[in-house]
Amino acid sequence: MEIKSSEFVISAPNVNQCPNDIKAEYAFIGRSNVGKSSLINMLCNHKGLAKTSSTPGKTLLINHFIINKEWYLVDLPGYGFAKRSKTVQKKLQNMISSYILQREQLVNTFVLVDIRHSPMAIDVDFINWLGQSNVPFAIVFTKADKLTPSKARQNAEAWMEKLKESWEELPPYFVTSSEKRTGRDEILNYIESINKSLKGDNSEIII
Ligand code: GTP
Ligand code: MG
Repeated sequence: MEIKSSEFVISAPNVNQCPNDIKAEYAFIGRSNVGKSSLINMLCNHKGLAKTSSTPGKTLLINHFIINKEWYLVDLPGYGFAKRSKTVQKKLQNMISSYILQREQLVNTFVLVDIRHSPMAIDVDFINWLGQSNVPFAIVFTKADKLTPSKARQNAEAWMEKLKESWEELPPYFVTSSEKRTGRDEILNYIESINKSLKGDNSEIII
């Protein structure tokens, strides 16, 4: 799929203030600093579209970007950043969970995990919560440029094997690097296939 345009629309502090629109949305979630905002910029070929930082905790609101004037990418705050106060952590947790559970336009959530680490409880708990809540998701391994291609593939496979212990059916997964632009076509093709299936649907959501 070709990205012809990508524009920032709004930063919302809660789900009620997200765009009043029924176009399909794809959200990016994962631990702080995993590379959510960088991945959005890489997919859109648009440096600086989503704000990135080497310090965790950069994204604090629900950010909507409209792509090709047809559908949205949504950058969410990260979870699991220990240096935040309990009150802020709770507020962000509520923001994320109410967006994911209430936003009917959300057709797929990409859960990002750092390819260098074996599964962490916080990621597995989040994935289990998505599954139990019947929220469609895919897994995106980030920062693959930090490993050799074979080690990256091996880590991704081991991660998915671990997930198999709690889930019979595994979600799709993608190995990516925003630095090297790895995985871009695969993710965009995946989004395109969902967009196409929505077009053929009688769904309320349009693209
Ligand atoms: P929060 O908004 O704080 O939750 O972080 P985020 O998940 O949006 O991460 P962000 O995109 O801001 O990136 C965090 C850091 O990781 C930045 O220093 C990026 O340059 C770096 N980074 C992101 N993706 C990659 C990647 O694919 N490879 C490498 N080497 N670094 C990356
Ligand atoms: Mg961010």
